[in-house]
Amino acid sequence: MRIRHKPWARPELAASPICTDIPGAKALRGIWRAQFVRPEQPLFIELGCGKGGWVSQAAVRNPGNNYLAFDIKSEMLGMARRKTDAAFAEAGRTPDNIRLSILNIEHITEVLSPEDKVDRIYINFCNPWPKMSHKKRRLTHPKQLYQYASLLRGELHFKTDDADLFAESKEYFTESGWQILRATDDLHADEPADNIRTEHENMFAAEGKKIHFLIAVPPQGAYGQPVREYVKKKDAPEVQDELGMEKTEP
Ligand SMILES: C[S@@+](CC[C@H](N)C(=O)[O-])C[C@H]1O[C@@H](n2cnc3c(N)ncnc32)[C@H](O)[C@@H]1O
Repeated sequence: MRIRHKPWARPELAASPICTDIPGAKALRGIWRAQFVRPEQPLFIELGCGKGGWVSQAAVRNPGNNYLAFDIKSEMLGMARRKTDAAFAEAGRTPDNIRLSILNIEHITEVLSPEDKVDRIYINFCNPWPKMSHKKRRLTHPKQLYQYASLLRGELHFKTDDADLFAESKEYFTESGWQILRATDDLHADEPADNIRTEHENMFAAEGKKIHFLIAVPPQGAYGQPVREYVKKKDAPEVQDELGMEKTEP
C-alpha cells in the first residue's frame, strides 16, 4: 500500500522516548524488558502495527502487560506514536508499558533474542502477498515462523480478512511444527469481550468481510535454539533456501 510521505514522522519518532530506530533496536536485543518501568510483566509484541490503533488501546487497557510494536514504515510508526500519546493522555496515564520500533520483521532475530522472553506475538492483518513469487514475504511464511519459534515462549495470535492467506497460513504453521490451539473463520460471530479491533479489522468488518483468527504455539524445544541449527535439524529444505543456508544432505 502506498502511503503519503509524512515529513514530521521521522523527527517526531527521534524525539519520542517510546520510539526506537533500527540501530537502537539492535542495541536493545536481549534487554528489551529493562526498557519498561515494570520489566517483570508479560512482554507482548505486535508485528506490522500500522497506525497503532490496536497496540495503543491494548497498552492502555492492560497496564499489567508490556507491549512492543514494530512496523517497517516510519510514516506508519509516526501515526502510531501520535495515537499512543493521545490514547494515554485521554486515559490520564504516561505511556510506561509501550514501545514502538522501526523494523523489517524479516530481520526480527536481529533485534529480539530468547533473553527478551517474549510471551506473545500478535500479527494483525498482515499484507497477504497473493502472488506466488511474493509469498515468502508473508509474515506467516515458514521462514518467519522458524524465527518466531526461536524467541517466543507463549502464543501467537493471528487475524486476517484474507481466506486464502488464512488457509495457507494454517498449513505453514502445521508444516513448521506449530500447534494450532484455536481457529475460527468468523471471529465476530461470537466476538470475545477482550477483542480489540484494528483499523483494518474495522474497515473489513464494515465491508461485510469475515475475520479469520487463530492461536498457535511453537514446536516444543524450539525456544532458545539458534534458528539455523533448528531448521537444519528439522530438515526443512525450502526454508533453508530462504535463509540462504547450505541444504542438509538427504
Ligand atoms: C495491512 S497493514 C495492517 C496494519 C494494522 N495491523 C491493522 O490491522 O490495521 C500491514 C502493516 O504491516 C507493515 N508491514 C508490512 N510488511 C512488513 C515487514 N516486513 N516488517 C514490518 N512491518 C511490515 C506495513 O507497513 C503496514 O503498516
